[in-house]
Amino acid sequence: MGSYCGGWWWRTGLWAAVVLAAAAAVAGGNVTYDGRSLIIDGERKVLFSGSIHYPRSTPKMWESLIGKAKEGGIDVIETYVFWNLHEPKPGQYDFSGRNDLVKFIKEVQAQGLYACLRIGPFIESEWTYGGLPFWLHDVPDIVYRTDNEPFKMMKAESLYASQGGPIILSQVENEYGNVEAAFQEEGKAYVEWAAKMAVDLQTGVPWVMCKQPDAPDPVINSCNGMRCGETFAGPNSPSKPALWTENWTSFLQRYGEETYLRSAQDIAFHTLLFIIAKNGSFVNYYMYHGGTNFGRSGAAYMVTQYYDQAPLDEYGLIREPKWSHLKEMHAAVKSCSSTLLNGVQTNISLGQLQQGNNCAAFLVNNATTNATVEFRNAKFELQPRSISVLPDCEKVAFDTAKVNAAISNRNTTMQFNQIEEQTNITKDSTDYLWYTVLLKTYSFQPNATSCTEPKLQVKFLSHLVYAFVNGEYAGKRA
Ligand SMILES: *[C@@H]1O[C@H](CO)[C@@H](O)[C@H](O)[C@H]1NC(C)=O
Ligand SMILES: *[C@@H]1O[C@H](CO)[C@@H](O)[C@H](O)[C@H]1NC(C)=O
Ligand SMILES: *[C@@H]1O[C@H](CO)[C@@H](O)[C@H](O)[C@H]1NC(C)=O
Ligand SMILES: *[C@@H]1O[C@H](CO)[C@@H](O)[C@H](O)[C@H]1NC(C)=O
Ligand SMILES: *[C@@H]1O[C@H](CO)[C@@H](O)[C@H](O)[C@H]1NC(C)=O
Ligand SMILES: *[C@@H]1O[C@H](CO)[C@@H](O)[C@H](O)[C@H]1NC(C)=O
Ligand SMILES: *[C@@H]1O[C@H](CO)[C@@H](O)[C@H](O)[C@H]1NC(C)=O
Ligand SMILES: *[C@@H]1O[C@H](CO)[C@@H](O)[C@H](O)[C@H]1NC(C)=O
Ligand SMILES: *[C@@H]1O[C@H](CO)[C@@H](O)[C@H](O)[C@H]1NC(C)=O
Repeated sequence: MGSYCGGWWWRTGLWAAVVLAAAAAVAGGNVTYDGRSLIIDGERKVLFSGSIHYPRSTPKMWESLIGKAKEGGIDVIETYVFWNLHEPKPGQYDFSGRNDLVKFIKEVQAQGLYACLRIGPFIESEWTYGGLPFWLHDVPDIVYRTDNEPFKMMKAESLYASQGGPIILSQVENEYGNVEAAFQEEGKAYVEWAAKMAVDLQTGVPWVMCKQPDAPDPVINSCNGMRCGETFAGPNSPSKPALWTENWTSFLQRYGEETYLRSAQDIAFHTLLFIIAKNGSFVNYYMYHGGTNFGRSGAAYMVTQYYDQAPLDEYGLIREPKWSHLKEMHAAVKSCSSTLLNGVQTNISLGQLQQGNNCAAFLVNNATTNATVEFRNAKFELQPRSISVLPDCEKVAFDTAKVNAAISNRNTTMQFNQIEEQTNITKDSTDYLWYTVLLKTYSFQPNATSCTEPKLQVKFLSHLVYAFVNGEYAGKRA
C-alpha cells in the first residue's frame, strides 16, 4: 500500500491519482453491480461503450461498423430502440431492413461485444417525435405506456446476458430529469412507473436512467454530458457505480449551424478524468458512429448527417486522429483495469516517493501551462490540460495531449491549370468531384458612351455561366 502524502496539488491543477492493489479475481454470476462497477460473471469491468443506432445505417454496414468499433477498443455497443419505426400503426410491427434490431444485436454478439439497449419509450435522439409513434396523439387518455414488443423479441431470441446473450445493460426513459419538475407530482409518479415497468420486464440485467438523480432503486442514475469528470454529482446510493451514458464526441447539428468540433485530446482528457475523479467504470461515446437521418426520421431542423464528427464518420470511415487516440487510451486503461477496479486510490502531491506492488498512476495537469513533475524519482513533462497514464507507475503508456495518428481527410483539393477530365482524376474511385474554376481569362469593357451597358467577356470551358452585378442576377449564357 502506498503512503498518502499531504499537500494537494488539485487547486493548482496538478495532481496524481495513484491506485495500488493486489490483484483479486471474484468468481461466478450474471450481470450485477456494486459501488465500483458493473460485474459480469463475477468480474468487475471498466467498459468503453460506443453508440451506433441501427436505423441510421444500412444492414450491410453493420458488420463493418461494429468491427471497427471493436478494433478501436470498444466493449459495448449502445443503441436506442426506436418505437415509431417498429410500430408505425397500432399493433402493426416492422422489424425489416434497417429496423432489424434482432439482426443488429446478433451482429454485436457475433463479434463478441456486449450491448446496451436504451428502450425509451421517449428517446429524444434528435429523432422524429423522440421515437414516440404519432398515433399516440389520437389515443384518448394516454398517459403512460410503452412498447413491449422488442423485449419479447430480445427474450425470445435469448439476447439478454442472463440468457447467455450480449445485452448487459438497459436504459429506461431518457434525460427525463430535465423536464420532470414541470410535471410536478405526475413527474415523480412517471419516474416510479417507468422504473417499475422496466424492472418488471425481468430482463435479468441492470437498468439505468440518465440525468435522473432520483432514479428509484435498483435503477442506476447515470451522467450525460461533456465533462462528467467535473460535473457528475455521483450515484444516488453507495451501492451503485458511476456510469457515463453519453460522452458527446461532437454535438448534434441543425441546419445553418457551424459544425461542432471536439478534439480527440479533449475527449480523452475528460474520459480519464471521469474514471479517476468520479470512480467511473463505464463511459459511452455518444456517438461512436452517428450515420444518417434517412427520409423524415430526423427531428425538426436536424441535418441529415448525424454526428459526422464521431470516431466513425457518417459513411463509417475511420475519422483520425479521434479513432486511434481513443483506441490507445482504451488499451492503456485496460492494461491496468484490475488495479484500477480492485485497488485503493490515493491522491498525492507530485514529487513524493510511492511504494506498492500493483500500482497504476494517472498524472493530471489541469493548468494551462506545461509542468515538469517528479514522480517516483523520475521526471515527467506534463502538457497543459493533460492526463498521462502510467499503468505500472513507471512508463507513460498514454498521454491525452499527445496525438500520434495523422488527421484523416475525406476532402482532397487539387489544382490544375486546365479543365481536367473527371474519370482521369478519380480513376472511378468515387462519383463525386467538385470543380471550382478560377477565371483568369476575362475582360471587362466599360461602355464609352453610356454607363449602362458595359461588356464582360468570359472565355470559359464549362457549361454555363451566371453573371451577377453587385450580387444581383444579370443574365446567363450556356
Ligand atoms: C443467471 O442467473 C440465473 C438465476 O438467477 C441462472 O438461471 C442463469 O443460468 C444465470 N446465467 C448465467 C449466464 O450465468
Ligand atoms: C465527453 O468528453 C469530452 C472530452 O473529454 C468533454 O469535452 C465532454 O464534455 C464530455 N461529454 C460529457 C457529456 O460529459
Ligand atoms: C481525488 O481528487 C479528485 C479531485 O478533487 C476527487 O474528485 C476525488 O474524489 C479524489 N479521490 C480520492 C480517492 O480522494
Ligand atoms: C471513490 O471511491 C473511494 C473508495 O474506493 C471513495 O473514498 C471516494 O470518495 C470515491 N470518490 C467519489 C468521487 O465518489
Ligand atoms: C480544470 O480547470 C478549469 C478551468 O480552467 C476548471 O473549470 C475545471 O473545473 C478544472 N477541472 C478540474 C478537474 O480541476
Ligand atoms: C510543452 O511541452 C510540449 C511537449 O512536451 C512542447 O512541445 C511544448 O513546446 C512545451 N510548451 C512550452 C510552452 O514549454
Ligand atoms: C475542403 O477543402 C477546402 C480547401 O482546403 C476547404 O476550403 C473546405 O472547407 C474543405 N471542406 C471540408 C468539408 O472539409
Ligand atoms: C490524364 O491525366 C494525366 C496526368 O495525371 C495527364 O497527363 C493527361 O493529359 C490526362 N488525360 C486527359 C485525357 O485528360
Ligand atoms: C454602349 O451603349 C449604347 C446604349 O446605351 C449601345 O448602343 C452601344 O452599342 C454600346 N457600346 C458598346 C461598345 O457595347
